[in-house]
Amino acid sequence: MGGNVLVTGGAGYIGSVTARAFARSGRRVVVLDDFSTGHADNVRWGPLVTGDIADKDLVRGLVRDAQITAVVHFAAKALVGESVRDPALYDHWNREKTEALVEVCAEGGVSAFVFSSTCAVYGTPDQVPIPVAHDRAPVNPYGVSKARCEDAIAGSGMPHALLRYFNAAGAVPAARLGERHDPETHLIPLTLRARVTGNPLTIFGTDYPTPDGTCIRDYIHVLDLADAHLRALAHLEAGQPSGAWNLGTGGGASVREVIQAVERVTEGKVPVQEGVRREGDPAALVADARSAERDLGWHPAHSELDRIVADAWAYERGDVA
Ligand code: UFG
Repeated sequence: MGGNVLVTGGAGYIGSVTARAFARSGRRVVVLDDFSTGHADNVRWGPLVTGDIADKDLVRGLVRDAQITAVVHFAAKALVGESVRDPALYDHWNREKTEALVEVCAEGGVSAFVFSSTCAVYGTPDQVPIPVAHDRAPVNPYGVSKARCEDAIAGSGMPHALLRYFNAAGAVPAARLGERHDPETHLIPLTLRARVTGNPLTIFGTDYPTPDGTCIRDYIHVLDLADAHLRALAHLEAGQPSGAWNLGTGGGASVREVIQAVERVTEGKVPVQEGVRREGDPAALVADARSAERDLGWHPAHSELDRIVADAWAYERGDVA
């Protein structure tokens, strides 16, 4: 079994679920997080180091002293709207900090680097489902910053896996891990809140060229994302080639279909109001993830929409059974 795994951003949503998965697979995990958005009670599967991924002395010492052989890098800012308002913030927090991290990891002899990337690197696709070989042409500063991170990692010489997530969703209620963003901007938690509070969910646009007029996204359960990181690391540690992989189901759900799923699962009505389009939203983003299945043996086993919603609902309600 390989050496120790450093998980940056391991106090966040996807990072914490992935740290848990590595620990359950028998790997020793060290979390590095600055708590700019993470939660201390998400770190339960290994030692925590509080600090900045761009603090080169800190990371150099950590890689050496904790005998880190693999890095799984989540720590990032990930709000498209915020990136449009403040591109420099994203260039600094994502690109610059990742470049510093990558430099120190490469110098320190890290032999596998797994990166939390995004379908936002594709921009508005001219082919859906989107193949992993699709040109990268991000349309917002968040996507640009992640594409630059991919470039830095690919240029580092370290064996690497660039994992481009589609819409991360769901939760692990039994472990009390799920989406806790502030502010929350994501569709499923907001729909669940509308169901609970009675304050209507705004549907951002009903005039898209999709069957019901609302945007289609490829929702992928956070447990399946975590599993892909384990598989990507095993792939690299087996000496298989570096690369990029899409992580999605290959199917999509519209905003209205998500609302219907919430109504089915929660057995109640979600109040909605129809609003205007949100700037920068492509009509449909669906993954062609066949290369992840072929190369990594990955299958999104938990990503049926009602299962995603049921887990998110159980998490919101605090059910841990
Ligand atoms: N939506 C609404 N009402 C809301 C919130 C969202 O109608 O109150 C719609 C959006 O317009 C979109 C869909 O629900 O069509 C999903 O929106 P999310 O904000 O949940 O997710 P995004 O698809 O915008 O964003 C996700 C990730 C980003 C990533 C992006 C890639 O959260 O990190 O996919 O495009 F960059």
